[in-house]
Parts: sequence; structure tokens; C-alpha cells
Amino acid sequence: GNYAGLLRPQVHYSPPVGFMNDPNGMFVDQEGLYHLYYQYNPTEEVAGNVHWGHATSEDLYTWTNQPIALFPGAPGEGIFSGSAVIDVNNTSGFFPNQTNGVVAVYTLNTAEKQTQEIAYSYDNGYSFIKYSGNPVIDSNTTQFRDPKVIWYAPTERWVMVVAYPVDFKVGIFSSPDLKNWTAESNVTHYGITGLQYECPNMVELPVVSENSSLPSTLWALQISINPGAPLGGSIAQYFLGTFNGTHFEALDSTTRLTDFAKDNYAGQYFYNIPADQDQVSINWASNWQYTNIVPTAQEGFRSSMSVPRGHYIADLERVGLSLISYPYNISSIVGNELASNSSLGNGTVVVDYSGVESGALYFEANITNLGDASSLSGTLNFTFLSSATGEYVSGGTFISSGDVWLNRGHTGALSDNPYFTDKFSQTALYDPTIGSWNISGIIDRSIIEVFVNGGVLGATSVFFPTQPLDLMILKVEGVNESATVSVGVWSLRASWL
Ligand code: FRU
Repeated sequence: GNYAGLLRPQVHYSPPVGFMNDPNGMFVDQEGLYHLYYQYNPTEEVAGNVHWGHATSEDLYTWTNQPIALFPGAPGEGIFSGSAVIDVNNTSGFFPNQTNGVVAVYTLNTAEKQTQEIAYSYDNGYSFIKYSGNPVIDSNTTQFRDPKVIWYAPTERWVMVVAYPVDFKVGIFSSPDLKNWTAESNVTHYGITGLQYECPNMVELPVVSENSSLPSTLWALQISINPGAPLGGSIAQYFLGTFNGTHFEALDSTTRLTDFAKDNYAGQYFYNIPADQDQVSINWASNWQYTNIVPTAQEGFRSSMSVPRGHYIADLERVGLSLISYPYNISSIVGNELASNSSLGNGTVVVDYSGVESGALYFEANITNLGDASSLSGTLNFTFLSSATGEYVSGGTFISSGDVWLNRGHTGALSDNPYFTDKFSQTALYDPTIGSWNISGIIDRSIIEVFVNGGVLGATSVFFPTQPLDLMILKVEGVNESATVSVGVWSLRASWL
């Protein structure tokens, strides 16, 4: 693949050629190497002909493309989305001589039906052998897919969540050996149903709180919906609750989206993240409404993943229990400091980054000593501009209302497509438990990700300029005199050039 094009992300994963959608099979191997598989059409830049592509990384930003890991067996078949686990104790019997055997659990899609299958790998996930006893679950339906498997230690069972998309149902199955599965319960009609449920995930996360009456961990059930997202097309929603090995019970019926823009779908959590680290997910940074027509095809590929997101649950005074999503391990690719001011006050920072080889930046702004919620005022806005064409992407926040916005409508291609929604906004209520306002982000040629107040809110948005964006303007206006405004902008190291 040619990774040098104008629209090619440099700190995000994108496939060498062809079309990519969902992240699949993500796991950390016993040497600490991250494995990412993905829905992959290697022959065309449109969805279809689905294989599992594969890439590996030590830092989750610098990726090495690996040979395709799973191939369809017959014309018309597709190896649809799924997950992977390490069968340390050889519960499956596939691995009499090793403790690092990998089992992939995926959906086989044929014209007749969708079934759940497994394949095993002796070599750390580089190549797989399909199990001769497949399928391992057959519900005799064309709508049954996207198994995500975890190990549930208290019952010593594998647990699978899997979607019955058009029934708006997530099935929970358990198994002692990855081959024999028992249906335990269903979670049905949760939140926004859209037209179908896809790609469920269930993950246990620490609850970070001073409140000792809260449990130390809770489970997040994440369900992707497509089409029928509130902003159109696809998006993911999540619910917080408890899980006992067979049943998920939501704390309440609040539906929360994982993103306030439109390019965050089919996210998956890594299997085998070490216990002393935050759980990490990667999401497909696109939307089924326009993914097959984005102009990156001129450069031989379509779609990129989000940056890795670290997660925990925070207990926030105004918004309650919330899933936090922040750019994980970003420091590993931060390069030169391009601007820094720890007492900007009301002022402007201009950064010409035309000399940054990656074209990718990380920025952060922190406003502290804001005073109490009743005396908030001012705005913080940022713009990334092409000095050649005037195209731009912008965003910011109204500090008093807590509104945050992002606008991708002033960049070349697709901006007149009605589905390519241009403006996004969301309210991140000022939270006295935080006492400050924080906004950070990553811009990388054709994708921007913005995080608010440490990741209480996030927005993931792709955009397609005709010339590189190369000028950043960050402006703070009307903020209380007593407040401290600190900003920093850094280049990011190009991982593909
Ligand atoms: C979600 C999805 C999955 C399916 C895969 C096919 O984007 O539709 O439900 O397994 O893509 O590529």
C-alpha cells in the first residue's frame, strides 16, 4: 500500500489497499504485542468479499501490516465480525503443547444463514485453522452475528455476546471449551433500536469515585446500531450495569452514545489487557451512510480506525456514571512541542504546521480556576485551515452553557452530500467535581477526534480536504479574568512514512 497520500492518516490504522470496516479479534499476546484484525475486502474499495485483515503494533499507533488471517472458504461466503481469545488452559483441546493458543470466534455469512464458527492458531494469531466441527452455534437464521467472547473467571466459563440484529436482541451464551455453547439469557430492545443491532461488547470497568456506596467495578454493554442512529446511519450506544456470568442487568434505562459525531461504529475492546491497565477499545471511524463513496479511494483505500481509547467509569456530579474514553498511550507518539502557553488568558495561538511531516497534531487546552457554575463565561475555539484553499475544520466550546461543537462542513469532497452531516454538538455540563474545562484532540490529515473534560464526551469525524490543512488557530475569548488558561500543541510522529 501507498501510505503517502494527502488523505492517508499517519497515526491511525488504515488498510494497505481495499476496503476496511469493523475491528475484529483484538487481543494482546503474551509478549505484549497488540493484534488488530478487521473486516477486509482486499480486492475493491467497497464493502464485500469479507476476509479478516491483520496488523500488529507495540504502541497501538505504529502498525505493521500482516498477511490476511482468515479467508472465505467458498465464493459468496464472508468471514464476518468476531473476536479472539487466548486459550491459556487449553479448554478447547486444540493446544496440548502450548499456553498461547489463539481462538478466533467469528460469523460465517452465507446466502442461507449466519452461524458462529471458530478457528485456532498455533502461531500467536498469524495463521488460523478452521475447526472441523463448525459451526459451533447455528440458530437457523440469516440474522445472527458478531460474537464477542470473554473469559468470566468466577464461573470459569467463556461468555459470548452475539447480536440477533433484526430482533433487537443480544444473546448471552456460555461455554466451558469454546465449542459447546449454552444460551443463558437475552438482552432485548435496549435503548435506540434503529433498524438493527450489531457488534455487541460487554466489558468490566473500574468505577472511579469517592462514593463508597458504589461498586468498585461495573459492566458496560455496548451495542452498535445501523441504520437509524439519531444523526443518521450508524453509531454505538452503551448501558452500564451488572453481570453475573449469565445475565446482564442495566442500572437504569439511560441510553448514551459513545460519540457525538458520526464516525464511531462497531468498536471492540481488546482481550487480555493486563489487569493493572485501563481497558482499551478501537472503533471503525466511518459510517455506513457514506463509507462506500468517500474520496480516499483515489488513494487506493477506504476507511481508518479511531485511535485507541482507554476507558473507565467516572461518577460525575452533574451527569452521573459515565463511560470515559480518552486517547490511550498518546505520549508514545508525541513529537515536538509546536506551541505552549501556560497563562494564555484570553488570547490566540497560531501554529503553522506545514513543516510537520505527518500532518498530524495533538492539542490540549486546560482552563482552571473557572469559579463556580454560576459565573462561567467565554468560549474556546479552534480551527484547522488549509492555507492553500481556505478549507477548514473547526470546533470549540461555550463555557457557560457547556456546549461543545465540531464542524467539518468547510472541507472539499462530500461536503454537499446530505448524509455527510457537517455540524455536531453536545452538552457536557460543567461539573464542579472537575472544577475545570479541558479539551484535547488529535487531527490526522482526514480525521479529527476531540475529547472533552478528560473524555466524558468525544467526537470522531472524518473529512476530506483537497489540500492539506496546515494552520491551526486556537482562540480563547471572554473567559473570567480569574481563570488560568493553559494550551499546548505537539506534532505527532508519522508511523507510516
Ligand atoms: C457491522 C457489520 C457486522 C458484520 C460486518 C460485515 O458494520 O455489518 O454486523 O459482521 O459488518 O462486514
